[in-house]
Amino acid sequence: MTEQVQKLSTKHLLGIKDLNRNDIELIFETADNFKNVLNRPIKKVPSLRDITIANIFFENSTRTKLSFELAEKRLSADIINFAASSSSVSKGETLIDTVNNILAMKVDMVVMRHPYAGAGVFLSKHINAQIVNAGDGAHEHPTQALLDAFSIRERFGDVAGKKVVIVGDVLHSRVALSNILCLQKLGAEVMVCGPTTLIPKYIFTLGVKVEHNLIKALNWCDVANMLRIQLERQDIKFFPSLREYSLMYGLNKKILDSLDKEIIIMHPGPINRGVEITSDVADSKQSIILDQVENGVAIRMAVLYLLANQRS
Ligand code: CP
Repeated sequence: MTEQVQKLSTKHLLGIKDLNRNDIELIFETADNFKNVLNRPIKKVPSLRDITIANIFFENSTRTKLSFELAEKRLSADIINFAASSSSVSKGETLIDTVNNILAMKVDMVVMRHPYAGAGVFLSKHINAQIVNAGDGAHEHPTQALLDAFSIRERFGDVAGKKVVIVGDVLHSRVALSNILCLQKLGAEVMVCGPTTLIPKYIFTLGVKVEHNLIKALNWCDVANMLRIQLERQDIKFFPSLREYSLMYGLNKKILDSLDKEIIIMHPGPINRGVEITSDVADSKQSIILDQVENGVAIRMAVLYLLANQRS
């Protein structure tokens, strides 16, 4: 008898909002297996050897792009990479035309990062390939939230019941929304902390706590996820200066050591050392920032593998 492969409830990964708790747990269990593979001398499996994946990045990326590419290579997929900055997008080509040209080369999956919210949803309605959202504007970054929650599960054994504070530029962050949705689906309590101008007005509809005092927020939580100030998405000033922001919301070792309990520090990267977090915190034993990066490969392998299973 052949073993029944469990399937996700969705054809694409456009956002955490489309996943249910079973989907997330299935991704984690699959990532556990791939993490074991990644710790072997031979880190490669043939699972996606018939699949061609296009990584199309209309916005800069270090971690997500490298992590997807490595995950695809570890799964033996054929891959093509596309960066908008070195493409015919600069000559006026539209998103649909760009992607249709890539698909004409018989691509099965598209991993896309785009500066506009909803770009992945738009694409999924116009092309047959499966879409993985690698970050769409200030909307969602689902694989980041999955690897973040997976890293919390790895550290604590479970996400349920944990208290997680997301600190900083929540307004412009796709990581924040995806994290809130993912952590809540897994039974964690979520708080956001930052200046009023960087907390979106709709936040209360998401059922999270809001705290503007960093010390109170840190004393409440088990995990603090420190966000970067996204100056590239800010067309007006949301606070007087980075120095003032850092004085009010930056996490330094003195603050960390003064807390009632030992908390875990996370950051999605890229870090602006000395702004939202000092080097001695980022590099401390309480920081799991590089564990997050390591787990990103196993999580992305799991997502690609499970989406590919939808095809059979
Ligand atoms: N965390 C994250 O998305 O980093 P990159 O922008 O470098 O991909």
